[in-house]
Amino acid sequence: MKTIIANLKMNKTPSECKNYLMNLVSRFDKAENVELCVCLPFTSLAEAKYILKDSKIKLGAQNLSDYEEGGNTGEISGAMLKDAGVDYVIVGHSERRSKFKENNKLINKKIKVALKNGLGVILCVGESLVEKNTLKTLDSLREQIEEGLKGLYENELEKVILAYEPIWAIGTGKHASVREIEYAVKVIRKVIEDDFSSRAAKQIRVLYGGSVNNKNATALFKAKGMDGALIGGASLDVNMFLNLLSLL
Ligand code: PGA
Repeated sequence: MKTIIANLKMNKTPSECKNYLMNLVSRFDKAENVELCVCLPFTSLAEAKYILKDSKIKLGAQNLSDYEEGGNTGEISGAMLKDAGVDYVIVGHSERRSKFKENNKLINKKIKVALKNGLGVILCVGESLVEKNTLKTLDSLREQIEEGLKGLYENELEKVILAYEPIWAIGTGKHASVREIEYAVKVIRKVIEDDFSSRAAKQIRVLYGGSVNNKNATALFKAKGMDGALIGGASLDVNMFLNLLSLL
């Protein structure tokens, strides 16, 4: 069973999201070998809960506050997401790390708040182009995972999905090669083994994200040890996205 996360990012108004989901739900539910989660803008979550009620598509959010509640104007709490029907929340996406200056410490706090509120977590990790070119991929992944998951109990990892997302591949049209993905997946599982256990390392789901589309999906899904993908741009058009899913 492959896990696919669609990340709509800051695209689609509530009415556009509604059309998107209605279209997706009616045609997706026949697909058998895919676990699908769609991560929508906050403004569409509450309505999506009802559209997805009888569907096997899971609902995802793209961010949450590291605070529990109270005087944090403009923030969205874990409890709010849970009540809106959210199953998973993306944490540590590189767009938030770079544009919104989120560091590993903050990401760790957010993960703990998400888990405390019964949400699953999709933790994104990945190296920059400079790190890749200076052979620092391993160090970069290790640091992001260790600091991101610091203080978690092993059983909490059941609710965590790791997405390997090289920063240079996100939204650029350039994807990692099968070899690069296999290497990163190995590194990621080794870090989990070192910090938790070999059982946890085997069980944790590891996805790849970064310019996955209809043309490269079949080849990229040959990467050993990879459990699925996080898809941004290629998930925005329902027809294109369903076509991609049919290739898996
Ligand atoms: P992309 O985005 O598929 O458009 O590269 C991936 C992501 O959201 O991380």
